[in-house]
Amino acid sequence: MTDSVRSRVESDTTGSEKMEILFATGNSNKVSEASLVLAKFGHTVSQLKIDGKTLDFSEPQADEIEEVAISKSLQARDFVVGTNFEKSAILVEDSGLFINSLNGFPGPYSSFVKRKIGLQGILDLLENKDERVAEYRAVAILSTKNESISCRGRCIGKISREIIGEMGFGYDPIFIPDEGDGRTCGQLNPEEKSQISHRMRALKGLSEIINLPSK
Ligand code: IMP
Repeated sequence: MTDSVRSRVESDTTGSEKMEILFATGNSNKVSEASLVLAKFGHTVSQLKIDGKTLDFSEPQADEIEEVAISKSLQARDFVVGTNFEKSAILVEDSGLFINSLNGFPGPYSSFVKRKIGLQGILDLLENKDERVAEYRAVAILSTKNESISCRGRCIGKISREIIGEMGFGYDPIFIPDEGDGRTCGQLNPEEKSQISHRMRALKGLSEIINLPSK
């Protein structure tokens, strides 16, 4: 298997394995979170830029973030054809917030909905509702020229009744993870969020696959 995801893992002199991963995303918060998580497994992450620009994906209208992630991965591979990055390991990720009582809304449309109605818009939709269960989901795909692997991650929690916290991004100030102490993700520092996040779980899964001994 030449140029497989696993063969891009190089052993350093200490015997530990590390991989240089290019994250194709315009969201620098995601890059910081991925760097924090994957550094623990010995990998480095940087944002993929071609001619100084991050990639501009066309996102399909899809019910599942898996479908969006696959589309982003294929587009990213097309973008790097003929560039210095053609042989690089490229990471893409799609994620979203799924609210039970809204049948999974905003889900794959999380980014668009956040821009249009904001956090207060979500709180207004849930006004007077006691059922506030929600989850973050992420699908991460790591690809080389000839192979790709993917993993999912979830983080279950509840939507808060007010906007609290300045940290994180997106819906963090209204999302209270069940595994936490009652604070919103917007009140967690990056290290605390990285212990429980959907993104961490998806990336940890990828890291475990690339560190498996080759057959
Ligand atoms: P996309 O994956 O780039 O389409 O964006 C997913 C959207 O979901 C983000 O823009 C956020 O609004 C939301 N989202 C995904 N992950 C997180 C997270 O860790 N914290 C807060 N919001 C998130």
